[in-house]
Amino acid sequence: MATPDDEDVSEAARTRDQLDMKGDWNRRAVEDAAYYIASADPDQGDAFRGSGQRDVELYFEGLQHLLTKDKTVLDIGCGIGRMDEFVAPHVGALVGVDVSGEMVRKATERLAHIPNARFVEGDGFSLPVDDASVDIIFTHIVLQHTPRHVTASYFSDAFRALRAGGDFLFQMPEDVTGAPADPPMDDTFEMRFWSEEDLRRAISEAGFEWQSVRRFPVDSPLLKFNQLRVHAKKP
Ligand SMILES: C[S@@+](CC[C@H](N)C(=O)[O-])C[C@H]1O[C@@H](n2cnc3c(N)ncnc32)[C@H](O)[C@@H]1O
Repeated sequence: MATPDDEDVSEAARTRDQLDMKGDWNRRAVEDAAYYIASADPDQGDAFRGSGQRDVELYFEGLQHLLTKDKTVLDIGCGIGRMDEFVAPHVGALVGVDVSGEMVRKATERLAHIPNARFVEGDGFSLPVDDASVDIIFTHIVLQHTPRHVTASYFSDAFRALRAGGDFLFQMPEDVTGAPADPPMDDTFEMRFWSEEDLRRAISEAGFEWQSVRRFPVDSPLLKFNQLRVHAKKP
């Protein structure tokens, strides 16, 4: 006879089976990629490019020295290369990885004039690169959309893909009073909020050493919270 625990387990398995990150993000890429990437600047023109430039400046604030011509840099959830356009000129090679083949196609087309950038479709959980082959991995407004087990999978695969001494930078919305609980596991859009303590634990379980966290306040009409930018290092 099924017990309540059995039912919880089968419910988790059922929603996990329904998780369709590739299908959902391919649909969004076809419908209006720029809107789903940066809804505040949803056109493909100057405003969209301006948002990429501004976000790169903010994201690497205090860590610009990491971006040098001898580095290979990987962007998890690159979208159509909004940020990569402004990172690639500072580094040796830029690899953008996205679960959506349609985003990858658009990034490749849009940034064809940037010779050291390439874009690759991934499986949504891991990085299609060799072990210890990358110097810096960054990811912005991606892991806020992924269920926690997907995020944990990326933390451990980022550790595998980085060289010893490599840097891992990621953004995550910070859990505050009033933040909504996690959406259902098959939801690929609503945000997941994390506490610093939970992030520290997850990062250390993946093998990383925590370096620093920066808080960027967000004052949305519904909720005041901080976007965290975490810097961790592979020992
Ligand atoms: C809000 S957009 C941000 C794009 C880009 N990082 C930027 O800031 O312009 C989220 C991106 O993450 C990608 N994405 C969502 N889930 C993913 C996953 N599990 N693995 C890799 N990419 C994912 C989506 O296809 C989409 O391109």
